[in-house]
Amino acid sequence: MGYKIAIDGPAGAGKSTIAKVIAKKLGFIYVDTGAMYRAMALFIMNEGIDPKDAEAINNKCKEADITIRYENGEQIVYLNGENVNSLIRTQQVSNMASLTSPNIEVRKKLVELQQKLAADADVVMDGRDIGTCVLPDAEVKVFLTAGSRVRAERRYKELMAKGEDCDIDIIEKEIIERDNQDMTREISPLKAAEDATFVDSSYMTIEEVAETIIGMVSYKKEG
Ligand code: DC
Repeated sequence: MGYKIAIDGPAGAGKSTIAKVIAKKLGFIYVDTGAMYRAMALFIMNEGIDPKDAEAINNKCKEADITIRYENGEQIVYLNGENVNSLIRTQQVSNMASLTSPNIEVRKKLVELQQKLAADADVVMDGRDIGTCVLPDAEVKVFLTAGSRVRAERRYKELMAKGEDCDIDIIEKEIIERDNQDMTREISPLKAAEDATFVDSSYMTIEEVAETIIGMVSYKKEG
């Protein structure tokens, strides 16, 4: 059994950035579960399935072969043999992932894959249901939040840096909509595990948040 750090929270709270820093500092594997839900959303989209058609999604998702490999320390997501890392970060895939991820068969399939990846390794895993559902026995559980405007500003900067034209008010509105969808869905909604520690990253630097979480690991280990 490895050591598990679970980081959950809403979109744009800084989960993946922080998780990557922690993984590097501690020599752990970083597992980005959102990327798996995004790859599945891309598959459903490419198949031309209506995102509101739960039955079609639950059937079709079984045909998606999603695998993860680590190349030069980076997580690469393969969808039916194709590296899809550069295709899954668009707003369209973000919005689609929020609609396809609540489906039961999608979750069953991806949770199983996530638990396999974590089985014997030291991992930092981020997502929405890691502390509650995927790794309920994780040694450290964090619920990372930030205000919706701060999160929108972060996303805006990311998209602008990639040359994507965008409007910050629309991004904030979409973030709030996605939060609502993620928090109110029936299966594995976004919520903090009872034993999670809340960290608000609104006015903290990446380093400060990473150090806070690494501090929790040291504290637990020294016990
Ligand atoms: O973290 P992200 O923005 O890459 O996640 C994409 C979508 O996948 C988001 O709508 C929530 C969903 N997701 C989920 O339901 N469960 C997870 N463990 C991770 C992500």
